[in-house]
Amino acid sequence: MNSAASPIFVDISSHLAWFTAYAAEKTAQEKGDASPMDLKLQHTMNVLENARRIVEGENFDTHTARLCLLAALYHDVGRFEQYLRYHTFRDRESCNHGQMGVRILKAQGCLNGESPKTRKLVMAAVGMHNRFALPAQTQPLIARITNVVRDADKLDILRIMNEHLSGPAPYNPTVVLQQPDDPTIASEAVLRAVFEHRMAAYAALRCVNDFRLLLGTWFFDLHFATCRSKFLQDGHAHNLLRSMPGTVPQAPARDHLLALLDAAKNNSRQ
Ligand SMILES: [Fe+2]
Repeated sequence: MNSAASPIFVDISSHLAWFTAYAAEKTAQEKGDASPMDLKLQHTMNVLENARRIVEGENFDTHTARLCLLAALYHDVGRFEQYLRYHTFRDRESCNHGQMGVRILKAQGCLNGESPKTRKLVMAAVGMHNRFALPAQTQPLIARITNVVRDADKLDILRIMNEHLSGPAPYNPTVVLQQPDDPTIASEAVLRAVFEHRMAAYAALRCVNDFRLLLGTWFFDLHFATCRSKFLQDGHAHNLLRSMPGTVPQAPARDHLLALLDAAKNNSRQ
């Protein structure tokens, strides 16, 4: 982490008030189990906190910091409508929740008090936060804002996954993306990603242990030193990797990744 980190005072209180009221209104409209929507509100607040930590740690100027915090606050605004309409957070079975978020922001006009440039940048980040990778030609400022959201998002998803997968099996099929908890199989593509030090793709998953490994490879897709430090300090990926038995076909890749993360942790202490 940048040792020169200092608090940045960015006022997004009116947006925070709007967002919490919007989330409460949408949650009240759910006739069945609304608890997944409560979890999304909590997730948003955690991502906002993570983003604040990144912009402070990276010494962003106040204007860029504010754009990043607005994008973090609104990144999952589409989740509420998605859940109300489809009762799932799986985009493939419902809608692209990033794009849905942009539609909500436009329809609700909650960014109307901001400049057209701010509106455009925040909406671009919300619309792209959930892509596997950003297009190569993405404007540098849009890429920077979106990457803050993506990094901040990953930290909180790791927390959620570690909490869930630390508990007893059977796991919630929704949380583990319907992957079987079969200790005899492994995805070659996920193993390759580990040894090539790059992020594995969801599409390559074949089982829950692949998923644990995939979450560990997120370390390779973090853009800010502040976020890498927090990733190592939180230890969620370490726990997920250590919870795999030594007999699974993922074990050599797991050991490789753990050694790499331990070395990074020791380096960051020096
Ligand atoms: Fe999202």
